[in-house]
Amino acid sequence: MAKVPTRSPTHADVDLARLASMGLDVEELEVAGAVPLPALVEMSEDRGRPASHYLAALALSTELPLAPTPGAKITLKLCLGSCQQWGALDLADHVAANLSGNQKGKAPRALTLAPRACLDRCDQAPACELHGPDGVLVLAPATIASLDEALDALS
Ligand code: FES
Repeated sequence: MAKVPTRSPTHADVDLARLASMGLDVEELEVAGAVPLPALVEMSEDRGRPASHYLAALALSTELPLAPTPGAKITLKLCLGSCQQWGALDLADHVAANLSGNQKGKAPRALTLAPRACLDRCDQAPACELHGPDGVLVLAPATIASLDEALDALS
């Protein structure tokens, strides 16, 4: 059995059958082997679903990466597997809103978002890793506040 936090889950995860169907939609957005985040966010707005659900579908139901942000030196690997049950979707929505310019008072960060199915830190969910020129910073369990603080310090 996979490791999980000793804390009880705080969130519901998205049904796997639904993610599989959303993954097919996401695959249609592919350009040159990757999915552009703006197109994914636009589709989520058109369909009235959170961008995080499509990001989870990308990680769990496709082989495609999200397209890198031009000029970004930092990559955020964010687990959207079972970490969904401990708030990973909230983190994904927060980052997607920033990167697509939809976060009031905050300029988009120079950051590439890389949704993952697992980061092998399941007992510390929700898990993410910041990969940059100086190494890797692990945030697990991550919160929106700790992620923003780390990104502020790195930028
Ligand atoms: S499921 Fe999130 S780190 Fe394994």
